[in-house]
Amino acid sequence: MIDLNSLKPLDLWGIVKDSLVEKGHPWRVFTLSTVDKECRPQSRSVVLREVEPQSWLVRFYSDSRSPKILQLQHNPHVSLCFWNPQLKQQLRAEGVATLMSDPAGIQQRWQSVKDGPTAGDYTTTLAPGSAVDPLVEFSEQNWFCVVEIKIRSFDLLQLSREGHQRVAVTPDGVTALVP
Ligand SMILES: Cc1cc2nc3c(=O)[nH]c(=O)nc-3n(C[C@H](O)[C@H](O)[C@H](O)COP(=O)(O)O)c2cc1C
Repeated sequence: MIDLNSLKPLDLWGIVKDSLVEKGHPWRVFTLSTVDKECRPQSRSVVLREVEPQSWLVRFYSDSRSPKILQLQHNPHVSLCFWNPQLKQQLRAEGVATLMSDPAGIQQRWQSVKDGPTAGDYTTTLAPGSAVDPLVEFSEQNWFCVVEIKIRSFDLLQLSREGHQRVAVTPDGVTALVP
């Protein structure tokens, strides 16, 4: 359990970063919500790939043709939600998403996934969400992209029989909230 009474913003970032290395950590997959052109919320699971505590950044990888990418290009405001059922911790975050534009940075990350089991996630001939066509499957081309989310604030809720605890965490500090 996290002691929310003495929590500092960088302590929380340390916990988020640890979830990348701890095998099977439930915060490795989070729910990402975007807003579509009709102003309707759209949510899906994505894998947390990179965490940069000093710059309040997280990154995930995707196919640049997928609806979520088109949505965040139209409206970059996103919401993230992580849940740890063992420790009964919910972490929500608000942020602004951009696509990484540095070709060398994208290429370096593509090299790390292109020979692995997830390479096919970025090389289907048809865009994600298209109706399946059995004649076309994978392409030599890839639509790998790196999404960076600049986190503006966190909302951490610790459920406990002794009493739930909740804090808002921003770069300015930590504020206790009524759960
Ligand atoms: C456990 C899990 C992890 C996933 N990770 C990713 C991911 O890292 N990137 C991604 O683009 N889609 C990922 N997906 C697929 C998305 O949840 C979603 O189904 C797909 O990307 C299409 O979303 P969209 O139509 O909103 O763009 C994951 C799905 C699951 C179930």
